[in-house]
Amino acid sequence: MPLSIRSALCLLLSFCYLSAAAQTHSRTLPDRMYADSAYAPFLFGVASGDPTRTSVMIWTRAETTEPIRWEVAADSNFSFTGRTGQTYCSPDHDYTVSVDVNGLEPGHHYYYRFIFGADRVSQTGRALTLPDDSVKHLRLALVSCSGAWSGYFNAYRRLAQRDDIDYLVHVGDYIYDDVDPDEHVRMPDPEPQNPSTLAEWRDRHLYYLLDPDLRLARQNKTWIAEWDNHDNHYSNFEHNADGLTAFYEYLPIRMPDTMHPEYIFRRFQFGGLADLHMIDMYLFRGREDFAAGQKSILGNVQDAWLKKSLTRSTTTWHLLGNQEMLGSWLSKGIPKSMHAPGDGTYFNPQDWDGYATDRQRFYHYLDTAHIHNVVTLTGDLHMSFIIDLAPDPRDRRTYHRRTGRGSLGVEVLTPSISAGNMDEEHIPRCLIPIFQRLSLDLNPHHRWVQFWKHGYTTIDVTPERCVAQFCYMDILHYSDRETYSRPFVVRRGADHWDRKKYRKNDFR
Ligand SMILES: [Fe+2]
Repeated sequence: MPLSIRSALCLLLSFCYLSAAAQTHSRTLPDRMYADSAYAPFLFGVASGDPTRTSVMIWTRAETTEPIRWEVAADSNFSFTGRTGQTYCSPDHDYTVSVDVNGLEPGHHYYYRFIFGADRVSQTGRALTLPDDSVKHLRLALVSCSGAWSGYFNAYRRLAQRDDIDYLVHVGDYIYDDVDPDEHVRMPDPEPQNPSTLAEWRDRHLYYLLDPDLRLARQNKTWIAEWDNHDNHYSNFEHNADGLTAFYEYLPIRMPDTMHPEYIFRRFQFGGLADLHMIDMYLFRGREDFAAGQKSILGNVQDAWLKKSLTRSTTTWHLLGNQEMLGSWLSKGIPKSMHAPGDGTYFNPQDWDGYATDRQRFYHYLDTAHIHNVVTLTGDLHMSFIIDLAPDPRDRRTYHRRTGRGSLGVEVLTPSISAGNMDEEHIPRCLIPIFQRLSLDLNPHHRWVQFWKHGYTTIDVTPERCVAQFCYMDILHYSDRETYSRPFVVRRGADHWDRKKYRKNDFR
């Protein structure tokens, strides 16, 4: 086919798609939701993810069955094209494609792009392979709970622009199945319905990719992602295969076990500095017993994998990518008149708190196997928490609040990118500090909390310390204004958060 005809066909396809998209998604799109039509047929951008030392997954979507070329180079001008190849988008995968690019150098930034026909070139993405053993510094962005209707993705845009962030770790609720009635900030018309078929799950992913700030975060950072309940909305794999299929199609994930797509848990290693186990407590909780009548939260296969991997690991730090709070959020003692959520013991028994016996077993493992320097990276609650992992936080004989003695590791809960938290639930802003104080009093192992801000968290790792810092941004308006919490530090070998109060810029 002559190239000019092919190009014309491509443009026609793009036009048809845009018309179809406009019909499919809404009659009216809210602010800052549009396809990247300048790059047709690559209307939804590019992405990279699941790096190894020598490979990375690159992703795009183009509504064509014609061949597409991809290029990976060491420079953004593509003057020294390192790797190149050809691939196809197929309706079988909703025209998405992920290419596993091999033969790369460790710890190198690469530029990548896709080309259709003679001259239709995609956005240029930037990817980073995992470092070799010489690495002495690592900085991650930890994110979760990005609700497109709940607010603007200012945080995605900001972290995409930051050159000091190496990788993005998403611990779930990348998309939202439902619409919270309190969070109508950027609503399409008509209001989206909960997806229940594969086509609807795909459509939800596509809708999200109309956001240019999300596209930028996917384009500029290499992602390590996993799902949580809103990405699937069934805690039962037999019934949520469509949600999982769409998730794998739209995110650049190297499926860890093609025979078991439900096993998304996997490990990444940053030289001798840190490993990152992405664990999945959502899909497997309560489905199996680890002992007679004792429910497992990870399921027996994953539980064995995690412990074996941690036992064998030789890295200094052990990062756990974990969807929902590990370290317990106690509500016992709160006056009944306050109608606190939860079961009277815990605020949120859906998370590890609902599997307290299995959690004690995990803590016992960390203790007896001498697994130190555990930093748990969590999302889900849309609020910020800094937590010591204390098996019995209120027992002064085993955990010392003032020093942290008795803690077996630490946890940081990142706030939501945009999904609602306390003030979206119509709790007056002036009352929230009172709830924060009450929560801290009930939970001696919680070092710091923040219940109404949104954003992302940087995790900065060196051989001697790991630092978490919350980066807060507006969600109700398009804004570049960013504020920071003070940094929270865990020293190597301490297994609890440092009690010293650092200044905002001490580790920036
Ligand atoms: Fe969420």
